[in-house]
Amino acid sequence: MTNKAEFHDRMLSLGLARVAEQAAIASAKLIGNGDEKAADQAAVNAMREQLNLLEIAGVVVIGEGERDEAPMLFIGEEVGTGDGPGVDIALDPLEGTTLTAKDMPNALTVIAMGPRGSMLHAPDVYMDKLAIGPGFEENVVTLEMSPKERVEKLAAAKGCDTSDITVCILERPRHEDMIAQVRETGASIRLITDGDVAGVMHCAEADITGIDMYMGSGGAPEGVLAASALKCMGGQMWGRLTFRNDDERGRAAKAGITDLDRIYSRDEMVTGDVIFAATGVTGGSLLPAIRRQPGWVETTTLLMRSKSGSVRRMSYRAPIED
Ligand code: FBP
Repeated sequence: MTNKAEFHDRMLSLGLARVAEQAAIASAKLIGNGDEKAADQAAVNAMREQLNLLEIAGVVVIGEGERDEAPMLFIGEEVGTGDGPGVDIALDPLEGTTLTAKDMPNALTVIAMGPRGSMLHAPDVYMDKLAIGPGFEENVVTLEMSPKERVEKLAAAKGCDTSDITVCILERPRHEDMIAQVRETGASIRLITDGDVAGVMHCAEADITGIDMYMGSGGAPEGVLAASALKCMGGQMWGRLTFRNDDERGRAAKAGITDLDRIYSRDEMVTGDVIFAATGVTGGSLLPAIRRQPGWVETTTLLMRSKSGSVRRMSYRAPIED
């Protein structure tokens, strides 16, 4: 698929919202039922079905995994009708499968779309991430700084005490040192058990979410999705891929990545205009939960365009058969 039609982000955005909504609706029945795989599969099926209705010549660049690992929405899969602009698609049909299965906050369906060649083809490895919201000088914090220094620099830039800063971190043994260093500064830590796309996005709305900075390592594909969101909402983000073995380095080579130590800024992960849609599955500080009642379902979707900086929260109600 190499369609050269223009990428009309405005026209395509509502279609993208529908994709996120339908994935959330499909997984709604499975919230809290303990079966992560079933919830994910339901979202994948619905997302793929909806994507294939869009008039795009799409290629999944961030998806469910390599072709031999994922039967659907695998990296490189062509989606859409084929009539329309050539676009890159980054998706996570259910970001927070465990959160969904356990009915814990901030599970989302997530999808981003940009012109062909505009997104980093991040392999399925970990990425060290750092993010802050809008309104700060460039590089006020960096990945090279220690966690302690990042808190101190951000507090100085905000004109507040380090104890007034809140940092969001994934609760993982690999983050123990980082957590200890942040605690030394007196800053608060919002520990999350999963869902670092939402974790990063929280920084862009610090006044609502109370989170000033995100740091720590999580999935690289989720890093590109988070960079897409911040490109629309405003805020700075950096990511550096990390590799645990030769298999993971091989994945990078396959994705065409040669500089394994490179630090990518937000705009190096997503180089062009992007549209981003996320629908709340379980509720959180970004989006309310999907509501399912006899006869109808209601979702709330965040739909954003980097070109205009527009951020919509759209509620959608539809009849359903029980
Ligand atoms: P899933 O929805 O695929 O389960 O991912 C959830 C998540 O928490 C991501 O948000 C995060 O980037 C990644 O898993 C962290 O990976 P790990 O659980 O291996 O630390």
